[in-house]
Amino acid sequence: MSSTVMRIRDFRVAFDVPGGRLRAVDGVDLDLRRGEILAIVGESGSGKSALSMGLVGLNRGPRTRISGTVEFGGRNLVEASEAQLREVRGRDVAVVFQDALAALNPLHRAGAQVAEMVRLHQPVSRAAAWERAERLLDDVGIASPASAARAYPHQLSGGMRQRVMIAMGLANDPAVLIADEPTTALDVTIQAQVLALLKALQAEHDTSIVLITHDLGVVAEVADRVAVMYAGRIVEQGTREEVLERPRHPYTVGLLRSVPRIDGPLDEQLAAIPGSPLTGLDRPDGCAFAPRCTFTTEACAEVPELLPRAGGGHLDACVLPESLR
Ligand SMILES: Nc1ncnc2c1ncn2[C@@H]1O[C@H](COP(=O)(O)OP(=O)(O)OP(=O)(O)O)[C@@H](O)[C@H]1O
Ligand SMILES: [Mg+2]
Repeated sequence: MSSTVMRIRDFRVAFDVPGGRLRAVDGVDLDLRRGEILAIVGESGSGKSALSMGLVGLNRGPRTRISGTVEFGGRNLVEASEAQLREVRGRDVAVVFQDALAALNPLHRAGAQVAEMVRLHQPVSRAAAWERAERLLDDVGIASPASAARAYPHQLSGGMRQRVMIAMGLANDPAVLIADEPTTALDVTIQAQVLALLKALQAEHDTSIVLITHDLGVVAEVADRVAVMYAGRIVEQGTREEVLERPRHPYTVGLLRSVPRIDGPLDEQLAAIPGSPLTGLDRPDGCAFAPRCTFTTEACAEVPELLPRAGGGHLDACVLPESLR
């Protein structure tokens, strides 16, 4: 039905740190399909940002080791040169981060930054690029795009800055938008607007969106499919309904339980998952969740594969027998 836009196989990102090698992303397989919103969820430190940056080489460096396959547009981005990656990032795969204030240049007007993105990849005049920038600011729902274009980042609200970032991302009509916690710094109303904007983009331009978040409410609202990340690996993957309504991995079950229900009693205790996440340095052999899991058996000493144990496209990496789920 839907074609695969980005095919990720055995993808790994490791950082050389004092004390050893930190395996932040530890063998991820994922397919991003055309026009879908794929949410990646997981606790802080599970490797979501290392993954999203690694896909387009944004965290390359002397202490970073990236391996595996990220098949996109007929090439493996892991092996692409820096120049090729820059080309891909501006034109085909846009990346939007949580902290728009840090990502925008404080010395340049918002419109100039959007126009610059346009001119980097399209042979148009300054005036035409500025016009396109204003149109993009309009597209992302900024009420007075002409005056926002002339504003400096600090003169704009957090929600406006995030929209400017998204406008920059969209400057060249990318096939893929990677949004790493794009709404975390925003208040709830603005959050909802930014999410609605992502939805509209997906619908109108058939953009594939990788949405990184630790907010399951956001996932419930916009995701088509969900991948749950734990200690650098995907431990469960499926449609939004499969993962949110019929979670199978004990970690996903715990994550969902730790979300306060809007209709729950006011003094409801959050069922925090006991223990804390391991880093890629102190990770044991076998299932990384085993030390925190109530169902651990000897079988957990081996790293469980991500398999369609529930049938269909719903995958999970847990050897727990059916009778205990
Ligand atoms: N440049 C780096 N150098 C060394 N370690 C890093 C680097 N970037 C990330 N890490 C480590 O890699 C692991 C994964 O980090 P990452 O930022 O991907 O987590 P995350 O899931 O995005 O968390 P959060 O929800 O807090 O954003 C963490 O242990 C982190 O400390
Ligand atoms: Mg992160």
